[in-house]
Amino acid sequence: MRRCSLIYRSDPVAYTLGNLSTFCTGARFFKSSPVKPGGGNNMEPSKSKFKSPIPLDARVNSFQQVLRSASASDSPLNGWEKCWNEGLTPWDLGSPTPLLVHLHTTGSLPKGRALIPGCGAGYDVVAIACPERHVIGIDISESAIKKASELSSGSPNAEHYSFLKTDFFTWCPSELFDLIFDYTFFCAIEPELRPTWARKICDLLKPDGELITLMYPIDDHEGGPPYRVTATDYEEVLDGVGMKAIQIVDNELAVAPRMGREKLGRWRKRCGQSQLSGVSKSSL
Ligand SMILES: C[S@@+](CC[C@H](N)C(=O)[O-])C[C@H]1O[C@@H](n2cnc3c(N)ncnc32)[C@H](O)[C@@H]1O
Repeated sequence: MRRCSLIYRSDPVAYTLGNLSTFCTGARFFKSSPVKPGGGNNMEPSKSKFKSPIPLDARVNSFQQVLRSASASDSPLNGWEKCWNEGLTPWDLGSPTPLLVHLHTTGSLPKGRALIPGCGAGYDVVAIACPERHVIGIDISESAIKKASELSSGSPNAEHYSFLKTDFFTWCPSELFDLIFDYTFFCAIEPELRPTWARKICDLLKPDGELITLMYPIDDHEGGPPYRVTATDYEEVLDGVGMKAIQIVDNELAVAPRMGREKLGRWRKRCGQSQLSGVSKSSL
């Protein structure tokens, strides 16, 4: 994979991220683009026979409307349940995230206990579960968890993962995690919750645990969810809880409609004096 030009300095706004000019500006989160041959599409589940008769933009608008009205009338968390109930899940790839599968198959993921918050239909949970790694997928939506359980029932690795309906921000598991993977969860929560997200991530990780963020959407659209993100957005809140980037690179395994708007970030807790001489510039 192509190298990412990245320079790390010690100040919070420290990243000089390569390839910024290739970001799709003004693009929507769930942008309508041709499907990459053989690859996933971020609009329709790539392996699903289901094709919605409703155009993508309309479904994105409906999804945002449902969340907005739930937020105004009762609770934003109920809004997620409504979206899942009504099939308004335009973010759903319908298959595991290619980059995560790549990291798993190349032995580049920590073993032990892994957590995927906001796991949705759970493809990533199942994809990286194995005898050396137990994966827990959590989601606030009962319907999402039901769907994840149904889709994965009968998987040969079923004993290595579990799904749980719970709120990431209030959940207190009995054991900490070696790995947390965040993809399209950070961008889905309200931006004012980001410092709380970072604190919770840190609290849930073992002292030598690792956070992997697939940062998306890196573009300049307004509003959300999904809210636009930058690597600095993550760095600002994670630095505040003592977590440091060890690698930030472009994700060149992004599905076609998201290509150029994703970066992989790997983060660790600081142990005493910074043990990190800098962020890795290597490619995946
Ligand atoms: C944009 S979706 C992403 C789903 C999945 N990560 C994916 O890529 O397909 C965000 C998910 O986060 C869940 N969610 C939102 N707030 C949550 C919370 N406080 N705790 C747990 N899950 C939450 C939603 O129900 C939704 O399934």
